[in-house]
Amino acid sequence: MGVAVSSWKLAKAVSSQGALGVVSGTALDIVLARRLQQGDTDGSARRALAAFPDAGTAERILSDWFNPEGTEDSHDFKQVPLRTLGDSSLDALTAAGNFVEVFLAKEGHSGAVGINFLEKIQLPNPAAIYGAMLAGVDYVLMGAGIPLEIPGLLDSYSRGEGGEISVQIEGAEKGERHVVRFEPSSILENPPKTMKRPYFLSIVSSYILAATMASRATGRVDGIVVENHLAGGHNAPPRGVLSMDENGEPMYGPKDTVDYAKMVGLSIPFWLGGSYSMEESLEKAGSEGAWGIQVGTLFAFCRESGVLPELKKRFLEAVAAGKEAVFTHPLASPTGYPFKFAVLRETLSEKVEMVKRIRVCNIGLLRQLYKTPEGKIGYRCPAEKEEAFARKGGDRSISSEARCLCNALMANVGLGMKYAGGYLEKPLLTVGSQLESLRRLIRKAGFDYTAADVVRFLSARPAKAAE
Ligand SMILES: Cc1cc2nc3c(=O)[nH]c(=O)nc-3n(C[C@H](O)[C@H](O)[C@H](O)COP(=O)(O)O)c2cc1C
Repeated sequence: MGVAVSSWKLAKAVSSQGALGVVSGTALDIVLARRLQQGDTDGSARRALAAFPDAGTAERILSDWFNPEGTEDSHDFKQVPLRTLGDSSLDALTAAGNFVEVFLAKEGHSGAVGINFLEKIQLPNPAAIYGAMLAGVDYVLMGAGIPLEIPGLLDSYSRGEGGEISVQIEGAEKGERHVVRFEPSSILENPPKTMKRPYFLSIVSSYILAATMASRATGRVDGIVVENHLAGGHNAPPRGVLSMDENGEPMYGPKDTVDYAKMVGLSIPFWLGGSYSMEESLEKAGSEGAWGIQVGTLFAFCRESGVLPELKKRFLEAVAAGKEAVFTHPLASPTGYPFKFAVLRETLSEKVEMVKRIRVCNIGLLRQLYKTPEGKIGYRCPAEKEEAFARKGGDRSISSEARCLCNALMANVGLGMKYAGGYLEKPLLTVGSQLESLRRLIRKAGFDYTAADVVRFLSARPAKAAE
C-alpha cells in the first residue's frame, strides 16, 4: 500500500507472522530522501544503506540528503528532481530507496517479503526493481496496467544483466518504441553475477487480463491477484460503457465479476483481494479455488502502518461510530483509474481543501508522457495547473477534479512538503469500501491493534466451521 503505508515496519510485522508482508515500491527514492532529511532518527535508513553493495553510492546519497539536525517535524524538503526519459541520474537513489525498504522489511526474521509496483509509473521501475532484488526481495507484485515485460526483466536481472521496459507515449506513431533501461554497472562498481529471481505476481481485475498475462508475458508469471472494485486504492474502471450512480460514483455490474472456475483453469495460483477481510474470507477464497487473500484496509490502520497516527485515529473513530464515508471518485486520480478515498475533514476529499491547494507538480510520478507537435517527448499531469495541462494538449474535462496524489500520499505518512508560504500538503486517505471487518476488528482488539492482531483475525475460522 503506497506511498509507504505498507512501509518496512508493516511488511516486517506481517512477514514475521508467516503471511506475506509487502512493501510499497512507489516513490521510494523520495521516501528515502525525505526520511534522511528528517534526520533518520531511529537510524534505520543509515543502517540499511551501510549494507548497500556499493559504499561509494551509499555515501553520495547520505551526503546529498542526510540532515543530522532533521526531525519528524521537518517538512521543508529539498526536492528530488523530476524524472525524465533517458535521464538515469536518479537511478542510484531509486535503487537504494528500494534496497533500504526491502532490507529493513527482511531484517530479523526468515519470512518472505514482497514489493508492489504500479505498471502505470514506468520510468523508475527498472532501477527500483533492481534495488529490491539487490536486497533479496522474494516476490514482486504489479498492478495498475498490464506488466507484460516485468517477468522478463526479473529474468535478465537474475542473470546479472541489465534490462529495459517499453514506455507508453501518448501520440507516438504505431511501431515507435521508447524504452527505459537500467544497467547495474551504472550504480555498482561490482554488480553481482547472479541474483535470486523473485516470484512475480500480477494484480488484475478480470479473467481476460489474467489470461493475457499468463500467455503473453515475457517470462514466468508465478501467480495472479484478482482484485475487485471494492478494494482500497485504485480500482479498474467498470467494463463496457462507464455510467455513474446518483452520487457520481462509477457503477459496476455483472461484467465486472470474475469467474473463478476459469481462473482455476489457468493452473496458476491465485489470490483474491477487495473486501476479503472477514474472519471467514480465507475459507471462502479457498472454496473458490484461490490460494489465499490479499488484504489492505485492515493493515492500513494497524499500529505498524505508515499512516499518520492522527489520521488513523480520526478514521477509526468514524468507523467505530458507524459514521465513515468512502467515495469512489472517477477523476480524482491523475492515472484515470477510479480512486477510493475516505471522506475526512482537512484532507483533499473536501472540495474546499482541494481548491486551496496551489496546483504545483513537483514530484511528477503520474505525469503522462506525450509526443509534442515538434516530435519531442512532453510531460503533463491532469493535476497540474489546468491551463498548463490544456496547453500541452491535455483533456480539460479530466483536469478540474484531479488531485495531486503524489503530494497527498506523501502527506498521509508524515512526509508531506511544506512551502515557503507555510502551506503544508494535505493528505488523501484511500480505503476499501467494506469496513464491517474493520469495525469487528477494533471491537475485538481496540484502536491500537497490531498487524499480528489482523493476521489472527483473518486466520480465525468462522464459528460454524470451528465447532
Ligand atoms: C491505504 C491503501 C493503499 C493502497 N495502495 C496500493 C498501491 O500502492 N498499489 C496497489 O497495487 N494496491 C494498493 N492498495 C490496494 C491493496 O493492496 C489491496 O489490494 C486492497 O486494499 C484489498 O482490499 P481491501 O482494502 O478491501 O482489503 C492500497 C490499499 C489501501 C487501503
